[in-house]
Amino acid sequence: MNIADLRKSYEKAELNEDASHPDPLRQFDQWLTEAIAAEVPEPNAMTLATVASNLRPSTRVVLIKGYDDRGIVWYTNYDSQKGRELAGNPFAALQFHWVELERVVRIEGRVEKISEEDSDAYFHSRPLDSRIGAWASPQSQVIDGRGVLVANAAKYAAQFMLKPPRPPHWGGYRLVPDQWQFWQGRKSRLHDRLRYASTPSGWVRERLAP
Ligand SMILES: Cc1cc2nc3c(=O)[nH]c(=O)nc-3n(C[C@H](O)[C@H](O)[C@H](O)COP(=O)(O)O)c2cc1C
Repeated sequence: MNIADLRKSYEKAELNEDASHPDPLRQFDQWLTEAIAAEVPEPNAMTLATVASNLRPSTRVVLIKGYDDRGIVWYTNYDSQKGRELAGNPFAALQFHWVELERVVRIEGRVEKISEEDSDAYFHSRPLDSRIGAWASPQSQVIDGRGVLVANAAKYAAQFMLKPPRPPHWGGYRLVPDQWQFWQGRKSRLHDRLRYASTPSGWVRERLAP
């Protein structure tokens, strides 16, 4: 098998100016709802790209936990690599790839921390082992072995019993979009691609060549 011969024709749907929403958040809401209904694996998983102060980009997958007019929210460790990079450069990009639907959504914008109250509320809605895990994992740090995590988890479980508080280094981020792109695969590589850019007079929607 030659990897260069692996290719697929995209023919499931189309995306056009008439049928898409003028508001990108509504378009996103529709596509995410359809991805969930289609039972694609992990429809809520998105790739987050950040850029370090030395201008090197990095990516990782996180889970979307909320979205509204204010932006897209996920939760993580503020001291992680992504947290450190966002502290130095708040501009970031998100990408969803719903393979079975032949769809991609790209979102760019500025990232801010959500309120402490909102982070508390979400943290306390998580299962106990996830709450302990947030304490046990010094995310993105080098550790001596898996035993460190197991020992940390046991230590914090004993310390906090059933009521771990939210760690100060753990909480939510919100990406405030200034640009969205919606990609629908089409036949013969003539894909549909709509970009929404934020302007003082509202969202401007334009078609990009695929
Ligand atoms: C499907 C999936 C969902 C994930 N969701 C999260 C998440 O919501 N928050 C998080 O901090 N890490 C999540 N991770 C782990 C991250 O991809 C990553 O390993 C971790 O955040 C450390 O990234 P960093 O060192 O670049 O900061 C997820 C991984 C996968 C595969």
